[in-house]
Amino acid sequence: MKELIDPSNLPKHIAVIMDGNGRWAQKQGAARVFGHRNAIKAVREVTEGCAELGVGYLTLYAFSTENWARPRLEVQALMELLVQTIRDELPTLQKNNVRLDSIGDLNSLPDKCRNQLAEAVGQTRHNTGLNLILALGYSGKWDIIQATQQLAREIKAGTLQPEDITEGLLNERLATQGRPDVDLMLRTGGDHRISNFLLWQLAYAELYIYDEVYWPDFRRTHLYEGILSYQQRERRFGKTSEQIKVGE
Ligand code: IPE
Ligand code: IPE
Ligand code: MG
Repeated sequence: MKELIDPSNLPKHIAVIMDGNGRWAQKQGAARVFGHRNAIKAVREVTEGCAELGVGYLTLYAFSTENWARPRLEVQALMELLVQTIRDELPTLQKNNVRLDSIGDLNSLPDKCRNQLAEAVGQTRHNTGLNLILALGYSGKWDIIQATQQLAREIKAGTLQPEDITEGLLNERLATQGRPDVDLMLRTGGDHRISNFLLWQLAYAELYIYDEVYWPDFRRTHLYEGILSYQQRERRFGKTSEQIKVGE
């Protein structure tokens, strides 16, 4: 399937809602955390798949602001898994020239997570391949609020006028600053919703939902399937199809 992908029309930025771990585990009579533990292989698959194809940016929704409200033991297990995974995967990230970064309210994370993350981000910062961004303690509304607060502080300090606030400036204050908008958003687990992920950055993203695949079963072929669907679409950005065809 990989050979069908047109390398000249790759999405620059792919974002993924990695959903369905709990249901994957429950389906086989296991506890939800069993699903989280089995999700790591899928993370590796999507990361390596994107790195091999030459996709520029991959943002993975790993833990949302709202996920803090889950049962305490599940949250604890997820945080421990996070520390462990970042530590274990660091050599592979280096080998694949992947640059790791994160978006989200890092202060909401346990110290151990924040430190492990900072360590991996620091060690991979000179890598020049795929930019892998983990959304942790992230939500789209949180992002827009924190950006608005920064702008309000600048206005209060007198360094910014309200009319200076443009799409470009707000872009620079969002956690995703400097990265292109999302071209393709993938979601496993069959739910057709955004769940407070990148709200602003998804404005013109193409959506691809896997109705039959839970995240732990996600493999490179699923990534290729999503990209092929993306390549068959006409992105009009509000224009007419005729305008797009003549390249206006
Ligand atoms: C996604 O799987 C992982 C996180 C949200 C951390 P879920 O844990 O949401 O699994 P389901 O959707 O309940 O099956
Ligand atoms: C979205 O999944 C968040 C992550 C994958 C990290 P959820 O399972 O939290 O989403 P809802 O609650 O079903 O919308
Ligand atoms: Mg879910």
